[in-house]
Amino acid sequence: MSDTYRNFTYPGLELHTAEVRELAGTKPPHRPEPIVKANDIAYILFNKTDLALQKRFLVDFGLQVVEETIEALYLRGTGPLPYCYVAHKHTETNGFIGAGYSVASEEELKKVSAITGRPIGPVDGPGRGHRVRLHDPDGFIVDIVWGRELAAVQPLKTDLAVNTPRHKARVNAGIRTATAPSPVERLGHYVLSVTSFDESLQWYMRHIGVIPTDVQCLADGTPALAFNRLDTGTIPADHHTVVLLQNVAANYMHSAYETADMDSIGQGQQHLKLKGWNHFWGIGRHILGSQVFDYWLDPTGDELEHYADGDVFDADFETRYFPLDMGSLWAWGDDLPKAMRPAFSVKQAWAAIKALKSGKVDRKTLGMLKQAMGLPARPWF
Ligand SMILES: [Fe+2]
Repeated sequence: MSDTYRNFTYPGLELHTAEVRELAGTKPPHRPEPIVKANDIAYILFNKTDLALQKRFLVDFGLQVVEETIEALYLRGTGPLPYCYVAHKHTETNGFIGAGYSVASEEELKKVSAITGRPIGPVDGPGRGHRVRLHDPDGFIVDIVWGRELAAVQPLKTDLAVNTPRHKARVNAGIRTATAPSPVERLGHYVLSVTSFDESLQWYMRHIGVIPTDVQCLADGTPALAFNRLDTGTIPADHHTVVLLQNVAANYMHSAYETADMDSIGQGQQHLKLKGWNHFWGIGRHILGSQVFDYWLDPTGDELEHYADGDVFDADFETRYFPLDMGSLWAWGDDLPKAMRPAFSVKQAWAAIKALKSGKVDRKTLGMLKQAMGLPARPWF
């Protein structure tokens, strides 16, 4: 591991005491034997009441419609998956319902089915294939998928030459950003808040074989947030594919879609602004994962992120531990929006009471969580 990965700083890091920093990593999570190791994220699933409106946003965001019925909308990126985003028509509710992960062989699919007792069924939509439908500890769908037909890969943007002070790679040529949606290649990751962090992390490690890349810990060293990558052996995998955060209620936080480069992030922002959609946060660069990011709100308020230039790690890279705070979310860029900063609300108080009553989380953990999230993410906040 390089020192540049372990050692990082940001304005506000000094608010943690030396003791808190030392305790991070003293309580590493148990690593169960995985049933299978998922090799890719296959798709993300939402319920939406207005498919036509959702389609307008998603096309402006840079996804492409591959199939549209009264019941569902399937969209792809420029990569090889037949689709990566599904909006199911729902008469009442809007929001995330789950995700799918692919495995490399039919034997692995059968193994999941045999061990969980869940049947193998067909995958909906273009590309077909087979799946075992599971539910995580908070009830979100996790499909294990095999045998989808891949789509033809579309051309990737090629004008990536960058001039630096001492190396001019682009001569007699300019940067001309297209007035078009950001060229989204693929679904990369999503983030969930969960009611029992350890139970959920154990579940994802056991059922799809994730490896925690970076874990953030409460003041006594208890892990409360994990950036988890897929175990693809010597083939480097994204820093995180599914992120889990202890909270008082189970919620979708955002999903993220990889685009070509930093210019493609800016291009996407201009296009979405032109079309009148709601910007949420960015442009900036994350610390854990290093992605350049830009966050948008879809028509029902769900967050979607464009990202580029993220870190990748092979399966041997050891889990790193850091103290939990909001400041470590970004290295530079736009200030964290007010909506993402901690604020007391009656709704949260009720959720906290409910969480305590359920016995999934204790008062001490909630207190430390509140303290960590309450640290000013930047000195000027
Ligand atoms: Fe993200």
